[in-house]
Amino acid sequence: MTNSVTEDQIAAYRRDGFVRIPNIIDKDDASRYAKAALAARDRISDLPADPTFTRVAQVWQQDDTLRELTLSPVLAAAATALAGIPLRLYHDHLLIKEPHNGAATEFHQDQPYWPHLGSRHSLSAWVALVDVPAARGCMTFIPGSHRLDGLRRQDVHDADNLMRVAPQLLWEPRVTVPLRAGDCTFHHAFTAHSAAPNRTDDPRIAHVVVYMDADTRYDPRKRPAGQPLTEVGGVPEGIPFPDDDFPRLP
Ligand code: SIN
Ligand code: NI
Repeated sequence: MTNSVTEDQIAAYRRDGFVRIPNIIDKDDASRYAKAALAARDRISDLPADPTFTRVAQVWQQDDTLRELTLSPVLAAAATALAGIPLRLYHDHLLIKEPHNGAATEFHQDQPYWPHLGSRHSLSAWVALVDVPAARGCMTFIPGSHRLDGLRRQDVHDADNLMRVAPQLLWEPRVTVPLRAGDCTFHHAFTAHSAAPNRTDDPRIAHVVVYMDADTRYDPRKRPAGQPLTEVGGVPEGIPFPDDDFPRLP
């Protein structure tokens, strides 16, 4: 698969740091994946209580139906064409905003969360498994913000957190992107993005696949809080990501 995105979509992504791809999966598949997503959520009894979203991580390793979506060659081909470099899977997660959850996902960039060394490009596919109009918590992006690197990690629970370190973004236009079930957006890992609360009676179900530069190495000095430090003091040249858990794509 090389033609799952057009030249215009690639150009828009590189200019803006995000792009909407309608119908990346068909409606019947979206509805099948939505059912599998709710079942995956319901199988886990001790999910952290966070009003922002219910997060189920690494579904591709737990559920055959959702594995098919995470490893979809169509998604991977689109991501590779947009990034312009070979990619591997970093991780996936379901992000479900429960009905009337009352909490936005506040503006942030993704890359500062990740313990990556020497990354040339990472990006996410945010696939809508149900219709996601603005009222159900669709994504909003700040075009061009993917050129802003080097910021500290930003808190998705704090509405002003990103703007405190990058106040110029307060004055940049924002683009809100409603999606139909089966549509997706791709966003660059440095693109500032947020999602509104879900004000509807139905869950907002997004399946997010995160792709990384196939040659990126793991930097234990930037490990996420709570994860054990595998190498005390870190390894300056980093550690390769094992192919079994971080498969090369497509
Ligand atoms: C969300 O879906 O609420 C946020 C997704 C993201 O931060 O990538
Ligand atoms: Ni994000």
